[in-house]
Amino acid sequence: VGTLPGASYIMALDSGTTSVRAIIVDEYDCIVAQASKPIKTTYPHPGWVEQDPTEILASQIAVMAEVQFKSGIHSDRIAAIGISNQRETCVVWDRDSGQPIYNAIGWQCRRTAPIVDELIAAGCEDVVREKTGLKLDPYFSGTKIKWILDNVSGAREAAEAGELMFGTIDTWLIYNLTNGLVYATDMTNASRTMLYNIHTLEWDDELLKIMGVPRSMLPEVRWSSGDFGHVSSEVMTHMPPIAGVAGDQQASFFGHCCFDRGDTKNTYGTGCFMLMNTGDEVVDSSNGLISTIGIAEGGTVSYALEGSIFHAGSIIQWLRDKLGIISSARETADIARSVSSNDGCYFVPAFSGLGAPWWDPMARGLITGLTGASDRSTLVRAACESMAYQSYDVLRAMQADAGMKLSELSVDGAASRNEFIMQFQADLLGIPVVQTEAVETTALGAAYLAGLAVGYWEDREELVADHALGRRFEPQGSDEEVAHCLSGWHDAVARSRTVIQ
Ligand code: G3P
Repeated sequence: VGTLPGASYIMALDSGTTSVRAIIVDEYDCIVAQASKPIKTTYPHPGWVEQDPTEILASQIAVMAEVQFKSGIHSDRIAAIGISNQRETCVVWDRDSGQPIYNAIGWQCRRTAPIVDELIAAGCEDVVREKTGLKLDPYFSGTKIKWILDNVSGAREAAEAGELMFGTIDTWLIYNLTNGLVYATDMTNASRTMLYNIHTLEWDDELLKIMGVPRSMLPEVRWSSGDFGHVSSEVMTHMPPIAGVAGDQQASFFGHCCFDRGDTKNTYGTGCFMLMNTGDEVVDSSNGLISTIGIAEGGTVSYALEGSIFHAGSIIQWLRDKLGIISSARETADIARSVSSNDGCYFVPAFSGLGAPWWDPMARGLITGLTGASDRSTLVRAACESMAYQSYDVLRAMQADAGMKLSELSVDGAASRNEFIMQFQADLLGIPVVQTEAVETTALGAAYLAGLAVGYWEDREELVADHALGRRFEPQGSDEEVAHCLSGWHDAVARSRTVIQ
């Protein structure tokens, strides 16, 4: 990939669920400047989740400009751009006008649960799992595309006539940032669509038929590190190349340098996503996890086992925005610590069903164990603890699938800076929990992918040498306390579920 002579920084775009960011990184992995903007989410019906693709694009372009302005580092000094994005979220747009024909359907959206039930009844579960590594669930893009084609007037006919384009958020951004010159995604994002065969590394005709999606509306699939065109001069004067693209969880996996089999990370973002490197093996989980493409760089694919938890940081946002009982996420650690125990109160944040390892799209959130003495601290503590319990369930499943025990867990994401949650996480797991030094590990991973493509960093060894760890939380607390908490949690989870256990 060609870069600009004398350019000395990488720009990483992190297009997340709740905000979009642009970050400038130097060759020592230091974040020199960053800018971010929140993104609106709408919930038109219970369990439905939508965003406006034009807002995502405009906000992303705005933060790209802001970060250059703030830092004084302009596009002639940007060697390459890396993109990481919320995955599975689905945009369909008109090939001629470039305008979306419907809002983006969010990854948490459960509207396609009836389509999934029909496909399960038709016996499609096994073929989907074998070819994609995924669970047949509304989470992934396939049934969301089908819903748009079946429910937006004229969409199916237009799709059959080759007039529509589908993209996950990476594709939507690349297409627009390159002025329509590049219509592509990368393998990690493709592996979340339920249309991509992770063994042959191709869109799969049988899956396309099952989901009713014409091949003409799919982007070209490329390696995560390589050529994705140049940003148009309307967005950045010197048109730096887009040279790295990955779904945000795979980007943070790369940012953690999880390059070897067994390497595992957990990111506490809007949701919580734990990935374990399984090398060249696609593990068929017996414990409610999925297999996915973890890394697609340097001409080889590493697969990963993934535990996807739908609500983590979003619970704190809910306490702030919907209940109004906190004013910022920062205060939650102190509030949670202000009480000595959870007093038997558990919060199951199944706001849009439960993901791994339960996979119950119709489960709904609940809070158990309230008494007259319960107050704001009780709720905040239960909400914070719920992130750690959910991660515990996923890690236990992962260890069972992989037949190995982790010796420590690497973490990143906003809630990984919450000392109460991280200590509680270490206590529950009985192993140390280790922060990365850079909280923006997702952006860093996207920067690494772009930087490797243009020779900004030479190889993975150089990345490993610079990889810095942050604070380490050692497990404390007694086995009895942990067992007591877990039993209360599992009792609450069982009550929130609709799938017969
Ligand atoms: O699969 C959904 C995931 O990519 C969303 O990530 O960072 O927005 O929680 P995040």
